[in-house]
Amino acid sequence: MKHIGALFFLALLGFVAQAQQPLHIPDTLHGPVYNLQIRHDSMAFYPGAKTQTMGINGAFLAPTLILQKGQQVRMVVNNALNDTTTIHWHGLHVAPHNDGGPYVTILSGTTWSPEFTVLDWASTYWYHPHLHYKTTLHVAKGAAGFIIVRDSLEATLNLPRRYGVDDIPLVIQTRQFDANNQIVIKQHLDTAVMVNGTRNAFVQLPAQVVRLRVLNGSLERVYNLGLSTNETFHMIASDGGLLAAPVAMTRLQLAPGERAELLVNLSGKNGQSLQLMNYGSTLPNAVYGAAQPGMGPGQQLPGYSQNPRNGANYTLLQINVGTPTDLPVTTIPTTLAAHQIPTVAQADTTRIFTFMSANMGPTAIQGPFMINNAHFDMNVINERVPFDNTEIWELRNQTPIGHPFHLHNVPFYVLTVNGAAPATHLRGRKDVIFVPAMGTVRFITQFETFWNDTLPYMYHCHMLTHEDDGMMGAFVVTSPFPTSVRSLGSETRLQLYPNPTQGQLNYRIAGLNPWEEVQLRITDLQGRLVQQSSSMPAVGTLDLQGRAEGLYLVHFQSGSITLTSRILVQQH
Ligand code: C2O
Ligand code: CU
Ligand code: CU
Repeated sequence: MKHIGALFFLALLGFVAQAQQPLHIPDTLHGPVYNLQIRHDSMAFYPGAKTQTMGINGAFLAPTLILQKGQQVRMVVNNALNDTTTIHWHGLHVAPHNDGGPYVTILSGTTWSPEFTVLDWASTYWYHPHLHYKTTLHVAKGAAGFIIVRDSLEATLNLPRRYGVDDIPLVIQTRQFDANNQIVIKQHLDTAVMVNGTRNAFVQLPAQVVRLRVLNGSLERVYNLGLSTNETFHMIASDGGLLAAPVAMTRLQLAPGERAELLVNLSGKNGQSLQLMNYGSTLPNAVYGAAQPGMGPGQQLPGYSQNPRNGANYTLLQINVGTPTDLPVTTIPTTLAAHQIPTVAQADTTRIFTFMSANMGPTAIQGPFMINNAHFDMNVINERVPFDNTEIWELRNQTPIGHPFHLHNVPFYVLTVNGAAPATHLRGRKDVIFVPAMGTVRFITQFETFWNDTLPYMYHCHMLTHEDDGMMGAFVVTSPFPTSVRSLGSETRLQLYPNPTQGQLNYRIAGLNPWEEVQLRITDLQGRLVQQSSSMPAVGTLDLQGRAEGLYLVHFQSGSITLTSRILVQQH
């Protein structure tokens, strides 16, 4: 079967060499209200059977959300799948009930409408499902899109920002298709390469400075990006914002979840062609995508060595250069954004996260991987971070493969990679950092703005197969107030107390009059409904006596707004 897959792929290479397709550019949505629907659909990726997909407002991938820093936005997310899902705003600094992690589920046929203020720097972010055990599947089938945040600083710089003209979103993904053209996961035979969901993509770009917003949206694969001409390009932004200054480079290693904004100077190239390439042959070993996925030839993944994409160089995107636009950008700026990086002396604490395989020894690379000796458990809060703490997180990878570590809530600054100062392009705001096999990364950040004593944020490996296998943890940012006067969150409008409760649970929805009616739903962490009412006052008391002990989610809905909080029921 695996060999058939590889042969099928090689045959296709011959077939498609002539059949280039125009790069799909996702539509844009502007605020303040963003209507999104996640649904089942299908796409003709190959001749013959259509591929079953999951798309947002379309068959595959999703519209690009354009946000302005400081803007108040409302996301209206309708789940038309016949499955539960969630939508996470990857990289955005929002309260935990708005973050869309695995606890804030959207049941089939329902709508989730978080509202928040955009606090992030101008950069390229993304959004995708985050349901525990199913993130890989939902993203693999196509549910993911870009978020572009703009701000007033970025607007003053002479940078390309005409979307789809000189400012191009590029999500790079490899996928495995079976003999019936269906997307399959977890077999390490991701031989189909697509950019924005287009295979064998080409794009026409003007002969001037263009901006490529590159997202590695792959499930596992790391890319080593470069141009076929080997010319220099400039990286101007990392995950969470503009760098201090453009960084000149000819190769960029980009791991799953990471973004980079690149300036490529095509001035004077009208009529020429070049390729955005993956130079997989020069990826170091122990990186998914290199010739060897582990530190030695013995550390193997099923299917990996039969996959012709590993350790190989190939085209991701053909670029045909056309005539320049009006008012083209023709220069690369010299400085970008000023950064105030907390110093090591300002750190309140250092927290250590050790990555291990459940299975140390010759098959350690096959995982499942753990963080601090634990697999992810929906019922466990792994870390409690005091509000406003400045912390150093030290990531110790004791496995034979590199892992891209992702933190929700706040961007961070990398202090060291294997004990040395990070490369210049890693010195900006990051939310994913690749931790090399048997290596150590330290970063620093401040857990500001939001707290919530019960509803957590996540940290996890962004190789989504590893995440679904449990390489993830939950952390809460704890309230700065003493227990007696705690409300549940800084931004949440839903207050529940006492929490934990032994039966009586008082609730109050700030901003509504006490007599206004709201709808109530209580679900368990698997999304099963345990209690509901269609008309409750905005202030009142719930009786949970007799409920099984454990964690529940309480959802109050008023109009199109749903407020969700997590409660712990304890009997006596
Ligand atoms: Cu992009 Cu927690 O994920
Ligand atoms: Cu995230
Ligand atoms: Cu991993």
